[in-house]
Amino acid sequence: MKDKELVILAYSGGLDTSVAIPWLKENYNAEVITVTADLGQDSVDKNLEEKALKSGALRSYIIDGRETFINEFVWPSLRASAIYEGQYPLATALGRPLIARYLVEIALKEGGTAIAHGCTGKGNDQVRLDVGVSTLAPQLSIIAPAREWNMDREQEIEYGEKRGLELPVTRKNLYSVDENIWGRSIESGPLEDPWNEPPEEIYSWTCSISDAPQDPMYIEIDFDKGLPVALDGKSLSGIDLVKKLNFLAGSNGVGRIDHLENRLVGIKSREIYESPAAIVLHACHNALETMTLVKEQQRFKNFVSQQYADMIYNGLWYSSHRRDLDAYISSTQEYVTGKIRVKLFKGSCSVVGRSSPYALYDYELATYDESDKFDHSSAEGFIKLFGLPYKTQTIKQD
Ligand code: ARG
Repeated sequence: MKDKELVILAYSGGLDTSVAIPWLKENYNAEVITVTADLGQDSVDKNLEEKALKSGALRSYIIDGRETFINEFVWPSLRASAIYEGQYPLATALGRPLIARYLVEIALKEGGTAIAHGCTGKGNDQVRLDVGVSTLAPQLSIIAPAREWNMDREQEIEYGEKRGLELPVTRKNLYSVDENIWGRSIESGPLEDPWNEPPEEIYSWTCSISDAPQDPMYIEIDFDKGLPVALDGKSLSGIDLVKKLNFLAGSNGVGRIDHLENRLVGIKSREIYESPAAIVLHACHNALETMTLVKEQQRFKNFVSQQYADMIYNGLWYSSHRRDLDAYISSTQEYVTGKIRVKLFKGSCSVVGRSSPYALYDYELATYDESDKFDHSSAEGFIKLFGLPYKTQTIKQD
């Protein structure tokens, strides 16, 4: 028998983490304290604390992390334009490092010796939690029961029932779902065949295009230094703004993503996401950057955005790499201030208007009408020098 452990378990109340409580007690001679982070997921159950205690936990914490999640994780990713492989706004991947932080905080407060989580050995989430915890508190050990116990779903249910657990599911759940305020992800079941169109039943934040309203909806979003601060002229907190946008965009069929993605653990997986607010905010933020950054800033930031997205996806949030990337991103956002007008219509989100006090778009330089201030005569000399290397090459080498 191993030494007595005090294990801090990341707990959702689902099958895996419920069964993990007695399993840890029996296999690690442990006491278990559960920690649940409310990051805005619909599924935070009011009775979670009671449920954890009934399943054998010593104590149970439920932490409202919504504001911290938005301000310290989601907003930096938006400013960085971090979208994994051009499709996934990284909701789950952004949530994990904050969960790791809460687990460590409770472990330090309670004198915990180990952290446990319900991730399997096949996904990215185990990497994010393990790397997060070991970077923040190298002295803590990490236990991932589902990586060790070799039980299938039926065996887990049997294991839990034998120990008198009230298990959340009895019938087979086709899908694995994860969610927080920035998005929802759905995988497995029929989605594992990449030829299958996602069935309508998997969606819960977005309506289908055929059910979306017949008329377009226009909204306006104000940004200050790269962050959204108001919707239709009304200042809103981050939580309210994201919630409202999830609703408005989702009810116009905006926010569905079908992504065949490259996992860190070396496999390709098919994931469906619903991220209405993220889709709208990234589109607006990008549109405002095109107004306020010079070409080289835009081009170079694209590389940094990819790095940033990979850094988040790969679980390296608590890294010097992020600190360095943040310094660059922060500097680019100084003048990303202004207003964007968006049209939501039948699943599409189109930017239809942009304005900024710092716009580099200059009407008098761009126009073809009589107010044109562009110096046409300097074009000829510019073009001569611009094309000179190629003219020279033709003369010397052809
Ligand atoms: N594939 C996504 C990611 O790695 C989502 C994973 C969500 N987990 C789940 N059980 N559905 O970030």
